[in-house]
Amino acid sequence: MPDVIIEAKNLTKFYGPIKGIESVDFEFHGGTLGILGPNGSGKSTMIKCLIGLLNITEGESYVLGYNSSKDARRIRQLIGYMPEARCIPLDMDGISVCTYFGRLVGMPKADAMQRAHECLDYVGLKEQRYRKTGTYSAGMIQRLKMAQALVHDPDLLLIDEPTNGLDPVGREEMLELIRDLNRNGKHILLSSHILPDVEETCESTLILSEGHLVKYGNLNDLLTKDREFYKIKVNNPETFYEILVNDGMMEVSIKDEILIIQGDADVPSKVIKLAASNNFQLMLLDRERYTLEEFFVELMKSQDI
Ligand SMILES: Nc1ncnc2c1ncn2[C@@H]1O[C@H](COP(=O)(O)OP(=O)(O)OP(=O)(O)O)[C@@H](O)[C@H]1O
Ligand SMILES: [Mg+2]
Repeated sequence: MPDVIIEAKNLTKFYGPIKGIESVDFEFHGGTLGILGPNGSGKSTMIKCLIGLLNITEGESYVLGYNSSKDARRIRQLIGYMPEARCIPLDMDGISVCTYFGRLVGMPKADAMQRAHECLDYVGLKEQRYRKTGTYSAGMIQRLKMAQALVHDPDLLLIDEPTNGLDPVGREEMLELIRDLNRNGKHILLSSHILPDVEETCESTLILSEGHLVKYGNLNDLLTKDREFYKIKVNNPETFYEILVNDGMMEVSIKDEILIIQGDADVPSKVIKLAASNNFQLMLLDRERYTLEEFFVELMKSQDI
């Protein structure tokens, strides 16, 4: 297993004039990585570029050491891919579909069928496996899509929107499967527009906005560091705002006469000092935290791309 599981360098994909992703650079060293971003931000495009399903417009990428454009076949034999789209033939039963996907990556028929049964057991599709998939509920389709991604026992899984269409119980079961796969040593890259999906399964996150990478790092670090802010009430807030900005505080704003300062633990002492030396009366200085949803919305709003 190479040190770098996935590497993207200036990865860019345009569909004619339409931007899918642009100049994405990152290295994934293994574990669990969640790609977050609103609808249309390029998550699926990125996954498809990585595994060679789309022609890259510019840049390059490597998966398990293989070049996404030149060695796409090899990559697809080595990884498991759970696409966002339905991708399942309607007129076959579940066990046949799963066996078929095993055959597609080169497994002998008997092995493929045995593994298909094991994977269907694992995802919790019981006797439904003998029914035509055209009769499946959305939840069953998601489970079958996961089973086919696992059939050849890949070390790396790329999972696009795993909880789409699932009810709360189905969603929790799907996330538990993903955690369990990780506990069993699989490397996982998953995409979702739902923050808690990533929060509940991933160590690190890569956030896309309008095709650009806007954050990449350890999820906990990112969310703790960037989510804290200070609320300050002071007489004459507009003038104090100027003083803070002149002092070098970059991330200050005023909303309804309240000053909001983005920053770390040294903010309070600075504010108290500036208030005292300029004769302002400090009436409130509170440390607060964005909820995850608020953090995400603020981050998207602050992108001026
Ligand atoms: N086949 C295509 N032809 C033209 N434009 C496309 C095509 N596929 C995607 N796009 C565009 O590329 C951009 C990124 O789309 P993509 O599907 O990768 O986003 P996404 O983050 O996966 O969105 P979602 O959360 O809705 O799945 C969007 O503007 C989309 O309209
Ligand atoms: Mg998508």
